[in-house]
Amino acid sequence: FCYNEHHCDPYAWGDTFPSCHPLLEEHHSPINLDYQMSRNESLGALHLEGFDTVQTGHWTLKNNGHSVVLQVGSGMSVSGGGLPGVYHTIQLHFHWGSLSTNGSEHTVDRRRYPMEMHIVNMKSIHPNVSAALEDPTGLAVLGFFVDVVYADNVHLGHITRKLSSVAYKGWKNTNNPTWLLLPEHNMSQYYRYHGSLTTPPCSPVVIWTLYEVPIYASWSQLEQFASEMYSTEEGEEDEKPLHNNFRHIHPTFSRSVYASRDAKLLLGRAAPPLSSALPTHVFQITLLGGLIYGL
Ligand SMILES: *[C@@H]1O[C@H](CO)[C@@H](O)[C@H](O)[C@H]1NC(C)=O
Ligand SMILES: *[C@@H]1O[C@H](CO)[C@@H](O)[C@H](O)[C@H]1NC(C)=O
Ligand SMILES: *[C@@H]1O[C@H](CO)[C@@H](O)[C@H](O)[C@H]1NC(C)=O
Ligand SMILES: *[C@@H]1O[C@H](CO)[C@@H](O)[C@H](O)[C@H]1NC(C)=O
Ligand SMILES: [Zn+2]
Repeated sequence: FCYNEHHCDPYAWGDTFPSCHPLLEEHHSPINLDYQMSRNESLGALHLEGFDTVQTGHWTLKNNGHSVVLQVGSGMSVSGGGLPGVYHTIQLHFHWGSLSTNGSEHTVDRRRYPMEMHIVNMKSIHPNVSAALEDPTGLAVLGFFVDVVYADNVHLGHITRKLSSVAYKGWKNTNNPTWLLLPEHNMSQYYRYHGSLTTPPCSPVVIWTLYEVPIYASWSQLEQFASEMYSTEEGEEDEKPLHNNFRHIHPTFSRSVYASRDAKLLLGRAAPPLSSALPTHVFQITLLGGLIYGL
């Protein structure tokens, strides 16, 4: 599968991976996050185990042709925040745009952030990922939007410094176990919904947690992702840049999207735009009223 060529891009994934076909499943990701969500007071901060200490074990940074993946050692897990069990962290990876486009997968009020980081966790009762893909709540992915500021993010620097060593598909490098990419504050502010993997096989088995306050990267760090990575192997004649590796937005349909107890941005605004704050019929009556007065 690929992102940027017509014959294998996200709209064609369903031809090879049936569960990527949007007509067959209503549980697709990513989605747009907007005002159509309800607050769920029982959604407090998740418990992140081992994220604040330097973990030992084997960490590997890899270019798999679709993203840069950091496979982490054992010792990290997430639980709480409404998750049905303990989930072990297996890897994290990124989705990005290009030098001229933003590339987050989820959008907030139709706005795309420059990048999105996914921390993938597997329910601890499963022996391997194939087993987790058979469980409707087998995976829990934590999504962080990445925004651009003037200063480098030193934690992200541990990864961006090594990007050139994994420039081509299949290249790997051991990475020093380093943490922490996560913010100190605002970790109880998130959105929650049930969706799918955003890459084939698009299995509808993911409990998504999307943090509303972005983490940061400098423009030059972002540029490294957008311009130094290739989706092709070294020496291939037709070298292709790895960029715009995000899947298109899918309808929410009848799914519930929840805001956590402390989430602020989408639900806490004093005056959301008229069109999304009011049910459609109220809006139409207002318009009609305006017309009548106009007459
Ligand atoms: C709130 O979230 C919890 C945990 O995910 C869930 O069990 C519960 O059904 C949700 N509450 C509502 C009102 O949907
Ligand atoms: C892309 O991201 C930048 C930085 O956050 C933001 O200013 C801009 O509005 C975004 N563009 C779009 C089209 O959402
Ligand atoms: C994954 O675990 C299941 C259940 O124990 C097992 O049947 C299967 O062979 C395992 N698959 C792989 C690829 O290890
Ligand atoms: C993030 O947390 C800080 C410290 O608790 C708070 O002052 C700030 O308002 C929060 N940011 C947002 C966008 O809610
Ligand atoms: Zn992802």
